[in-house]
Amino acid sequence: MPKNKSMLKILIVANWKMNPKSPIEAKRLFEGVQRGTKNVKNVEVVICAPFVHLCLMQPPLNPPLTKGGGGVRIGAQDCFWEQKGAFTGEVSPIILKNVGCEYVIIGHSERRQYFGETNETINLKLKAALAAGLKPILCIGEKEEEREYFKDILVRQLAMGLRDLNARQLSVLSIAYEPVWAISTSGGHHDCSPEDAFSAYLMIKKFLITKYGKSVAERIRIIYGGSVDSKNAAFYIKEAKMEGLLVGGASLNINEFTKIITTIEK
Ligand code: PGA
Repeated sequence: MPKNKSMLKILIVANWKMNPKSPIEAKRLFEGVQRGTKNVKNVEVVICAPFVHLCLMQPPLNPPLTKGGGGVRIGAQDCFWEQKGAFTGEVSPIILKNVGCEYVIIGHSERRQYFGETNETINLKLKAALAAGLKPILCIGEKEEEREYFKDILVRQLAMGLRDLNARQLSVLSIAYEPVWAISTSGGHHDCSPEDAFSAYLMIKKFLITKYGKSVAERIRIIYGGSVDSKNAAFYIKEAKMEGLLVGGASLNINEFTKIITTIEK
């Protein structure tokens, strides 16, 4: 499958959320994905694990990436906006960098919903993650009751989330469009059609081009998340033109996650 216009690879990110429940299971799942994707060249595979499992995923279990970029990259699901200090319970971007993280998810809808994250705190976290040399994946998306005016919601999340970031910083950013109503665990969810995903894709691209110019916008991958599985993955890439996928539930099943990646790799 072709890479996107700026020749960035398709990005497929596993969001393990608060799973699995032991280091042994995390290791098994990680090794299974490694085995299943060892010949993958055209897709960038990232696993975003709970903080405590991140230390497992270092060499020798996770050898350095091959020349062609093959291998599994690791990421976190959140970070704090300060690099160090007396912030009990928090994990800073610099700590994540030092345990081998390359990516970090910021502003996931579950963090917005259950942990009081706002566009302002998300903006602080993005800046801190970038300062530590991480590649942030900014999550945006409307709730069920906001569907009629979803464009306004997305514009606000983008404008406030990306406030004061410059073109150079934005070149390592990805944006995940995750309609909250399509997330598998959101309760009463329905599927997001490739047409709806494509209309969000166009709207986000247009926002980026207008604000930052075409060459910056082309470096930012827009990926889709919400009930992705091996049956619908290709539709979001081919029909909705998405430049990657953020996969929750299906990423906990080695065969299913591997199938998503190998389907897109073809
Ligand atoms: P899902 O989760 O694939 O289980 O819908 C996606 C997400 O919340 O990132």
